[in-house]
Amino acid sequence: MTGGAGFIGSHVVEAAVEGGHEVLVVDDLSTGRIENLPASVAFHPIDIRNRDALRETALRFAPDAISHHAAQASVAVSVREPLLDAEINVLGSLHVAEVAVECQSRLVFSSTGGALYGEVPEGQVAGEGWPALPASPYACSKASFELYLRAYGQALGLRYTILRYGNVYGPRQDPHGEAGVVAIFLRRLLRGEPIQVNARAAEGDDGCVRDYVYVRDAVRANLAAFEGVLEGRTINIATGVGTSTRTLAERLVRLVDRPAVVHGGAFRAGDLQRSVLDPSVMISALGAPTPLERGLSDTTEWFREEVQSS
Ligand SMILES: NC(=O)c1ccc[n+]([C@@H]2O[C@H](COP(=O)([O-])OP(=O)(O)OC[C@H]3O[C@@H](n4cnc5c(N)ncnc54)[C@H](O)[C@@H]3O)[C@@H](O)[C@H]2O)c1
Repeated sequence: MTGGAGFIGSHVVEAAVEGGHEVLVVDDLSTGRIENLPASVAFHPIDIRNRDALRETALRFAPDAISHHAAQASVAVSVREPLLDAEINVLGSLHVAEVAVECQSRLVFSSTGGALYGEVPEGQVAGEGWPALPASPYACSKASFELYLRAYGQALGLRYTILRYGNVYGPRQDPHGEAGVVAIFLRRLLRGEPIQVNARAAEGDDGCVRDYVYVRDAVRANLAAFEGVLEGRTINIATGVGTSTRTLAERLVRLVDRPAVVHGGAFRAGDLQRSVLDPSVMISALGAPTPLERGLSDTTEWFREEVQSS
């Protein structure tokens, strides 16, 4: 597991350990936290840009599968520092692909449906066949590594699966990542602080529309891919349901069940107005995604405990 100490990665690690897998985590802890990891897991503080350290560690462990979650995962950082983004998400990822070829392990790549497809017009959902229209350096680096994977598959026999996540939410989420709004809103609401709905077009509107998918569904997809169920496939991990930031805020206010102040904010440059993904391939391969209400309710309870104990 690369990036196993991060939000999504640590859930995959936990489930893999529970499922009887032996897990080794490589993470530079730039955004991840060691406390996210079960004690039984072998941990190596390695930056994936360090090719030799990564290779040495992987060859010793000889994994059957590599789940690649380590990334510069912030769209905003990628806009400020596109070279850093490419160094980690393209070059670092190529080091991971090289290791996978050498170890003959499956590679499961955490890509992004949320950023890759660009604007998805009202009434439509983006299927896996949609053209990639990256609007940020982050989306470019993810799209680019997807292409490398196809080439490594054809030229070098690499076995891989590409998981294109929607906006993943759940326990342990940090606000800094690609899609931190659920974590941001819950922490603020539970502390009695006001929250802000950034505009989709004009201040005071309902905000952008996103496909919020529960982290457990991303975990299920990773575990299936480890077993080879999704080999050679590119698959959206999503719900197909579009939710505006205001609707999300209202649902969370209800779940938190305490007085709340919700402000309207300005439009943020670079934000897609609408991103909703087609989950039909996922549903036929893995079953239905977790309904939003259920996932948000579980997540709220986790954040309630976190805020109470902090
Ligand atoms: N959160 C989402 O909604 C979402 C959506 C689409 C795709 N993704 C992708 O899923 C993956 C996990 O995202 P997350 O939300 O859990 O983010 P996260 O920041 O919590 O996890 C990323 C992990 O990678 C580690 N890392 C970063 N750079 C590294 C490097 N150079 N070497 C080694 N480790 C490094 C971090 O310390 C962290 O533990 C990322 O690849 C991200 O691009 C996330």
